[in-house]
Amino acid sequence: MITTTGLTKVYQARGREVTALDGVDLHVREGEVYGVIGQSGAGKSSLIRCINLLERPTSGTVTVAGQDLTALAGRGRRAGKELREARSRIGMVFQHFNLLASRTVQGNIELPLEILGVSGRDRTRKALGLLDLVGLADKAKAYPGQLSGGQKQRVGIARALAGDPKVLLSDEATSALDPETTRSILQLLRDLNQQLGLTVLLITHEMDVVKTICDSAALMQKGRIAESGTVAELLATPGSQLAHELFPVGGTASGPDRTVVDVTFHGEAATQPVISQLARTYNIDISILGAAMDTVGGKQIGRMRIELPGRFEENVVPIGFLREQGLQAEIVDTAVAAAVPVQTPAAPTQTPLTKEVAK
Ligand SMILES: Nc1ncnc2c1ncn2[C@@H]1O[C@H](COP(=O)(O)OP(=O)(O)OP(=O)(O)O)[C@@H](O)[C@H]1O
Ligand SMILES: [Mg+2]
Repeated sequence: MITTTGLTKVYQARGREVTALDGVDLHVREGEVYGVIGQSGAGKSSLIRCINLLERPTSGTVTVAGQDLTALAGRGRRAGKELREARSRIGMVFQHFNLLASRTVQGNIELPLEILGVSGRDRTRKALGLLDLVGLADKAKAYPGQLSGGQKQRVGIARALAGDPKVLLSDEATSALDPETTRSILQLLRDLNQQLGLTVLLITHEMDVVKTICDSAALMQKGRIAESGTVAELLATPGSQLAHELFPVGGTASGPDRTVVDVTFHGEAATQPVISQLARTYNIDISILGAAMDTVGGKQIGRMRIELPGRFEENVVPIGFLREQGLQAEIVDTAVAAAVPVQTPAAPTQTPLTKEVAK
């Protein structure tokens, strides 16, 4: 539904160039909720603004629902009209709601429809239907100033849906809200995703948001996508930073001759019997260092960090056993590093200083 290839964005700011996007390849499937997470300045907003062409990409392509928006943006006036139409089918939700204070709630939702030239009666019908959908049927005549943050965001979402978009882009839609309101807005986005088959791309810096509603996620760092995939794929990827942040199971090896393994399981796969089976079959004592169980994108996923006696070479067979049971078993361990001394090269190791070169 959304594809970017080699997307770059370089801003010119006071004679300096800032590379906000540095070759982003993103693939969001139809009907999924996709989360992009990353630290401040990673390029998240730039990405979303380039996807709906609020910001013109420096290079690369953006395709939404099979339409190459970057190609449209590069052509003449007729293409400009096509681009406006294409953009009206991409809903956008903002952190600070961006509502017009002088208009009623209904008036705010009707605004994009007015711009699209929809007749008065149709606008009203559409706006009232959308207000009902977001649970604010009784607020049509209220002004934004009379609403709570959560209610304002519901209006923002209703307005974003006015053009019957197939795609909803959300830039930190819940960052200005308290945890409970955040949950209710996330639930609303999930409901809309399911009821309307809406594809949702959301930007956040909160791991909880990803955990609550995302089917897939990407980690952005310095204008690049460092990791991406479905949550299940990420959890199955050894060394995935996102997986560890989603499921911080904690715990470190209790000694050098120990192997620490993260076991990930999905759905009903019960680990308990498997772990005790493992202990019995190989006659080993297993310690549980930590465990977490949660619902990610509507599916139950659990992680457990266990410690096995012996170095990892001695545990190849037990780990193979876990994998044969359909569990993902990843060696995390600190003991390997401690047990296998790192070879120090004979030559003096002087790390060259890397200078920040202004691009
Ligand atoms: N209009 C602009 N002009 C110049 N530089 C910009 C502009 N917009 C963003 N940048 C720079 O681009 C980089 C990425 O910014 P961006 O807003 O995309 O990050 P972000 O991940 O959304 O951060 P945050 O979590 O703080 O919202 C930053 O270094 C920022 O200073
Ligand atoms: Mg931002």
